[in-house]
Amino acid sequence: MLRNCLFLLRHTLSLGTGLRWRAVVILSAICTVLTLASAGSRAADFFAGQKIYQAHCARCHGPEGRPLLPNVPNFYQGERLDAPDGFLVRSIKAGGNLMPSFNRIIKDRDILNALAYIRTLQR
Ligand code: HEC
Repeated sequence: MLRNCLFLLRHTLSLGTGLRWRAVVILSAICTVLTLASAGSRAADFFAGQKIYQAHCARCHGPEGRPLLPNVPNFYQGERLDAPDGFLVRSIKAGGNLMPSFNRIIKDRDILNALAYIRTLQR
């Protein structure tokens, strides 16, 4: 995204017309908005998710997704993972019978990252 914007800006600069600076200002504004918007929708971060999982989830779900306590779903065997991200994120935020609520404790983005990591534990 950013690279496309810089490319466009460079070409606008080389136009050499009287409207050049106005075009540069408008393009910069559009690019800033687009770059910020695309940063918000970037793909889940596996490594951030791994850190979150190890810090907050592994004590019950196990470092490899094999549960350490009874009644905990087995991610290693893919339990509960057929549900869509949106459903599971809400579920993690709400908590369960035994699982604490992570609402406001972990950012939505990091819950999604942890979920992306959990999905890689399935064998
Ligand atoms: C205190 C133990 C514990 C911790 C810590 C814990 N969980 Fe859970 N988790 C459970 C249990 C038990 C269940 C089954 C539902 C219930 O009884 O609460 C569950 C269920 C789930 C489910 C399935 C939810 C569903 O609706 O099917 C997901 C996904 C999940 N946990 C992810 C996480 C993530 C991500 C973390 C860390 C941010 C985490 N859990 C931390 C115990 C825990």
